[in-house]
Amino acid sequence: MVEHPPSQTRPRSPKAARPVRVLSVTSGKGGVGKTNIVANLAVTLGRAGYKVLIWDADLGLANIDVILGLKPDYNIHHLLTGEKTLAEILVNGPEGVRVMPASSGVQELSRLGEAQKMRLLTELDDFDDDLDFLLIDTSAGISDNVMYFNLAAQERIVVVTPEPTSITDAYALIKVMVTRFGQKRFGILINMVAGPKEAKNVFTLLTSVADKHLGSVAFDYLGFIPRDERLLQSVRMQKPVVLAFPESDVSRKFQELANLISRPKEGPRVDGNLMFFLKRVLKIEHEQRRA
Ligand SMILES: Nc1ncnc2c1ncn2[C@@H]1O[C@H](COP(=O)(O)OP(=O)(O)OP(=O)(O)O)[C@@H](O)[C@H]1O
Ligand SMILES: [Mg+2]
Repeated sequence: MVEHPPSQTRPRSPKAARPVRVLSVTSGKGGVGKTNIVANLAVTLGRAGYKVLIWDADLGLANIDVILGLKPDYNIHHLLTGEKTLAEILVNGPEGVRVMPASSGVQELSRLGEAQKMRLLTELDDFDDDLDFLLIDTSAGISDNVMYFNLAAQERIVVVTPEPTSITDAYALIKVMVTRFGQKRFGILINMVAGPKEAKNVFTLLTSVADKHLGSVAFDYLGFIPRDERLLQSVRMQKPVVLAFPESDVSRKFQELANLISRPKEGPRVDGNLMFFLKRVLKIEHEQRRA
């Protein structure tokens, strides 16, 4: 496994004093493709010249660094203990994508001490000018930790597959975020489908139940990623599918997704910097502790 050198030849980032976009990729059920989606979306955005940081907040086994062919020496644990700086723990992936590696045990933001929180805040704040996208690969389910990341992110991408349990678990996640945390908007990405018809069916199934029981919630259809054996092959090659098989349908779909996501959002942004994102995480926790 090799660490990729920082890309010198990439076009300059299209960032022009625009705030960082913080997106979480999440799901009710595990194993629906979040980590693969984050890796491939990040690399596709990176190839387009955007500056992307992945925060691996996934406690599962298929970690982002494996999929990107990276072998981190350090992780967030070393940052929080003060042994390393953020710059020292980040790993350079393909197309200039940087990864903040996970460490099981220290992922629970709720368990961080004040000094650790401050460290995270100040270190990440320095990155604000050097970033277009922060993509968060969350664990599955509705644990507090997943909620923190999902609430702090500006946009949430809920990944769903046609499996009935994936749909019911996605609904359960959305329900908690709407009823307990007042979230009103979700991007929905359908994974592992044969084509657009099946994807639309899954989307309709999920959103019609949500519309019926949760009232006014906005769902943005973000398209679909086809079920494709090449994705599994690329995982075995430890190379994102968009680099291993750039001409495949699945890679084209990641390009469409990246195009859709990188389109400027309409309306004013009031919550655009990393500091705000982290403060929001910590505030949520603070409020929960008081409750
Ligand atoms: N579109 C697809 N076509 C075929 N296989 C896929 C597709 N998407 C994901 N997979 C496979 O499904 C498995 C689970 O993917 P992945 O690890 O990305 O899911 P996850 O949601 O991150 O899981 P976890 O909840 O454990 O973190 C992997 O073996 C992956 O290669
Ligand atoms: Mg994962």
